[in-house]
Amino acid sequence: MDTIDQLSKDFEAEVDSVIKVKELEPIKIKYLGKKGKITELMQQLKNCSKEEKPLVGQKINLLKQGILQKLKSKEEALSLSEKTQKFEKEWIDVTLPGRRQKQGSKHPVTQMMDHALSILKEMGFSVLYGPDIDTDYYNFESLNFEKDHPARDMQDTFWITNDSLLRTHTSNVQARAMEEYKPPIRIVAPGKCFRNETISARSHVFFHQIEGFYVDKNVSFADLLSTMDHFWKKLLGKDTKTLFRPSYFPFVEPGLEIDVSCTSCKGKGCRICKHTGWLEVAGAGLVHPNVLKAGGIDPDRYSGFAWGMGIERLALLEYGITDIRLFTENDQRFLDQLR
Ligand code: PHE
Repeated sequence: MDTIDQLSKDFEAEVDSVIKVKELEPIKIKYLGKKGKITELMQQLKNCSKEEKPLVGQKINLLKQGILQKLKSKEEALSLSEKTQKFEKEWIDVTLPGRRQKQGSKHPVTQMMDHALSILKEMGFSVLYGPDIDTDYYNFESLNFEKDHPARDMQDTFWITNDSLLRTHTSNVQARAMEEYKPPIRIVAPGKCFRNETISARSHVFFHQIEGFYVDKNVSFADLLSTMDHFWKKLLGKDTKTLFRPSYFPFVEPGLEIDVSCTSCKGKGCRICKHTGWLEVAGAGLVHPNVLKAGGIDPDRYSGFAWGMGIERLALLEYGITDIRLFTENDQRFLDQLR
């Protein structure tokens, strides 16, 4: 009887110390297995007297039932708490607000560029891209700048080697357009340009231009003026006036500078137009015969016009921005305002 009581106590102690479901199985085997403690007890039953046997047998049976019961309830309790722990580890707060995605937008220079290009495409021009890194030939020589032409000094050039440079203007697509297409040629070339200038609120070493280039039979000065007038009205509003002033670029003859009536004061005169009522927006002219010749086009049969305009200048006016450096500083607070 004492052995049975002791076994019961041992079992209780052992089960109480268990903390994981899988630790219960060895205990079950130890007590209830074929060679387990209960079987051992049963085998000792034969040593009891006739009178003792039923009592002892009953006690062993009770112990066996008790062990089974206890194992079962312990297993239930443990597996419940293991589940709870697992859930606690995986817990997420589904009521938390989501992470907000910031909405992106087109850069103001890109917006201006796209706006201008969509008008030009409507007018019948195709877009042609030229390289940012180019040779002396395309940036200067094919454009009637001779090697020691003083006008090369007008362009503060970033030279890479003796012969390669960062293009100073998008006019480097003119010769390429003539290599690629036969007249009639009607292209516009957007892109980055670089000039070694002091950076200030008004000028930067890095900016964008769109070049326009048109070659066909009988292209006249009047075509240039009317095309420009139409384009600037479309871009800046139908009340926009254009003013053409004589100027000089080696690749056009005659050469012009184009002003438009101030977008801010409508020509009355204000701080932005320095009280002149006019804003300079482009260089232009009739394509020089030497440029046509360099492109393999006979200047006696064909003529053309070209113009080039700075996009940052226009974006400054359009969005009322006073410092060109803001365009490349990537300040989110600036960009957010121009969405
Ligand atoms: N390439 C000139 C510049 O960058 C602009 C221009 C283009 C002038 C075409 C005349 C004709 O200043």
